[in-house]
Amino acid sequence: MISSNSQDIVLKAEKLTKTWTTPAGPIDVLKGVDLDLRRGQSLAIIGPSGSGKSTLLSLLGTLDRPSSGTLVIGSTDIASLSDLELARWRGRSLGIIFQQFHLMPSLTALENVSLPLEIAGKEDARVKAREALVEVGLSARLDHLPGALSGGECQRVAIARAIVTTPTLLLADEPSGSLDPETGKQISDLIFSVAARHEMAMILVTHNMELALRCQRILKMTNGKLEEQQTSN
Ligand SMILES: Nc1ncnc2c1ncn2[C@@H]1O[C@H](COP(=O)(O)OP(=O)(O)O)[C@@H](O)[C@H]1O
Ligand SMILES: [Mg+2]
Repeated sequence: MISSNSQDIVLKAEKLTKTWTTPAGPIDVLKGVDLDLRRGQSLAIIGPSGSGKSTLLSLLGTLDRPSSGTLVIGSTDIASLSDLELARWRGRSLGIIFQQFHLMPSLTALENVSLPLEIAGKEDARVKAREALVEVGLSARLDHLPGALSGGECQRVAIARAIVTTPTLLLADEPSGSLDPETGKQISDLIFSVAARHEMAMILVTHNMELALRCQRILKMTNGKLEEQQTSN
C-alpha cells in the first residue's frame, strides 16, 4: 500500500504570488501558485517563454521571496528564516541546476563541488566532492577550471555540486537548454539517474516536451497559475 502521510510531502506551496516592479509598472507574473511534491516524485513545469517558469523556480529554490503566499520545504516554513539562515539552510537542503551552469570561474571542478560542503563546515568536503565528480563521470577533470571544460562537462560539475550535499529536493531550470541535442540528452539522462539513485524529488523546468514526459507529473504555467496536465505515467 502506498502511504500518503504528511511526512511524504517534500514541498508545499500555497497561493504563491510574485509581482516584479519595472520602470513600466508592476507585472503580476505569478498569481497564486499551488503545488505539492512528494518524496522521490518527479515533476515537470512547462509553459511558453515569459510565462514565469524561472520566476517560480527561483521562489521554490528560495533564491527569491514571494510577494505573498506560503512555502514549506521539508518541515521548514521558508518565511520564518532570515536571509542568512535561509542561505545556510538552502546550502544543506536543496540542489539547484541552472541552464548557464553558474560555476565559479576561478575555482577548479573539485573546488566548485566542495564549496557547499566547506561552507557547511564539513571536514570531508574534498573526499565527498571527488566522489560526486566520479559519479557524474568527471574523474579525469578534477583540477580543470570551468573555462577549460566543455558545456556538457560544466553541467556535470554543476550536477555534482547539486547532489554533493545529498538534498531531498533537486531543482533544475532548463538544464540542457544551452547544450547540443546529443549532449543535452546525456545530461538529462544523468539528472534522472542521479535523482533516482539518491531518491531525490525533482522539479524540472523545461519547454522540451520529450524531457517533461519523463517526469511523473507535468504542470503547465498558464496565466500565472499551474495547471496539472494528464500524463500516461
Ligand atoms: N528580475 C526581474 N525583474 C523584472 N521583471 C522580471 C524579472 N525576472 C523576470 N521578469 C519578467 O517576468 C516574466 C516571466 O519571466 P521568467 O520567469 O523568466 O519566464 P520563463 O522562465 O517562463 O521564460 C517576464 O515578463 C520577465 O520579463
Ligand atoms: Mg526561464
